[in-house]
Amino acid sequence: ALLAEAKRISALFEFSDDDVRNAVVEFVTEMNEGLEKNGTTLSQIPTFVTGVPNGTEKGLYLAVDLGGTNFRVCSIQLHGDTTFTLTQSKVAIPKELMVAETAKELFAFLAKQVELFLKSHHEEHFEGRVERHQTPGTPTGYEEESIFRLGFTFSFPVHQTGINSGTLIRWTKGFDIQDAVGKDVCALLQEELDLLKLPVKVSALVNDTVGTLMARSYTAPGKTDTLLGAIFGTGTNGAYVETMSKIKKPLEGAYDSTTGQMVVNTEWGSFDNGLKVLPNTIYDQILDKESVNPGIQMFEKRISGMFLGEILRIVLDIMMGNSKNPFFTDKDSSSNDFGSTTVIDDNAPLKQQWAVDSSILSVAQSDNSVGLRTLRQFIEKDLGVQAPSLEDAQAVKDIAHAIAKRAARLAGVAVAGIILHTGRLDPKGGPEDIVDIGVDGSLVEFYPGFEDYMREAMRAVDGIGHAGEKRIRIGIAKDGSGVGAALIALVAAKLEATGI
Ligand code: BG6
Ligand code: GLC
Repeated sequence: ALLAEAKRISALFEFSDDDVRNAVVEFVTEMNEGLEKNGTTLSQIPTFVTGVPNGTEKGLYLAVDLGGTNFRVCSIQLHGDTTFTLTQSKVAIPKELMVAETAKELFAFLAKQVELFLKSHHEEHFEGRVERHQTPGTPTGYEEESIFRLGFTFSFPVHQTGINSGTLIRWTKGFDIQDAVGKDVCALLQEELDLLKLPVKVSALVNDTVGTLMARSYTAPGKTDTLLGAIFGTGTNGAYVETMSKIKKPLEGAYDSTTGQMVVNTEWGSFDNGLKVLPNTIYDQILDKESVNPGIQMFEKRISGMFLGEILRIVLDIMMGNSKNPFFTDKDSSSNDFGSTTVIDDNAPLKQQWAVDSSILSVAQSDNSVGLRTLRQFIEKDLGVQAPSLEDAQAVKDIAHAIAKRAARLAGVAVAGIILHTGRLDPKGGPEDIVDIGVDGSLVEFYPGFEDYMREAMRAVDGIGHAGEKRIRIGIAKDGSGVGAALIALVAAKLEATGI
């Protein structure tokens, strides 16, 4: 009965080839809307980045990265031969800073981490000079060449007003600090860096997808330009290279217009917030209702790592409440009334919102042993269930698979939409005419077969098919947004020098 019930529930997560095709049509429509005006579901944010690197760029830059699993500070030495050396430190963001009253605490924390990083890795850059740094905002105390240019990877929707400025549109991924909305996040960070008298200038504001795109372009094999940088991690989003003339809405800041192109950050996490084409199971509805931002980021809530574990948790919790399922029950009990002998206590992760990490989906997919031993251990540890049976584990495995497969197929919708919109597969090039895509994030990195399911969905799309899908090359740009942010800081410094 349990496995039949798991099968029934898994079927609710099916997203057919027809569903994929419909969704891609809607995706392209929403891309165009976003290029016309502000306030649309796909924000289509112009980033003021008008060129992609070619691997010859050189120099030492700083980058900070907020918005993934960890906050990271890095310094990047670009060698100019497609290689780079990265030094980095990571810390988890304290939960209380993600939902604070004011943004001050968060940005002060970030600046502090930059200070610690500089002290342990680049002491020579500010030792002895600190006292001379007098006026906040004007780093006159330092010689120009000793000031670090910093690329700020801030992975939230920002209305960009220039390459190094932009105001926060809304928080995503569980952050909720209302006081920061509408403020320039670069200025917030610069203020805190100045208070610590650090020789650092925030030179570029970068979404992680844009950083990933830049990093992939810097390192991509061969001479192919990279079309898209995409994140499938805590959140999901993509940035692509757009033809300038297709961006119809007004741009507020200065940029170099000679390339005829600009990178656009789609913010596809909010694709189809109106639920015209997205699946909407009862579990999706519960997750959304109990989130900090109901009705928003509806695409992301069905795809990314922050949410998949929670969808699974909600499904299992509801299944357990159904006494017909011999699920997670006390196997030593003599009672046959399975529903009443559950051994889950209220503190178990399975009973707590957000307490189940999405990594259990990867574990479930990878465990192909006869007894599902590893998965059963994870069910004990990560869900807080004692002694799950093989059948329990099999049910978890089936449902987790269905949730992740749907996520990957939805991811395929976004990638296919971008490829079709840009016409990158036309005119029909030969098999060697590659469309290059850089990806990053824990989901695509660790979920076995995520890319295969994405590709399967893309093959179903008119205008891509088997032949088109074979021309798509997807490469991991691991920790790409650090090096990407450095590259954009470099571009920004060049712009500044030319007075644009
Ligand atoms: C990291 C990037 O490698 O991947 C971040 O540097 C990005 O900018 C992150 O946000 C996404 O992955 P996750 O799984 O940490 O959200
Ligand atoms: C969320 C953010 C977006 C980011 C993505 C991946 O969707 O809004 O800016 O790129 O997560 O981290």
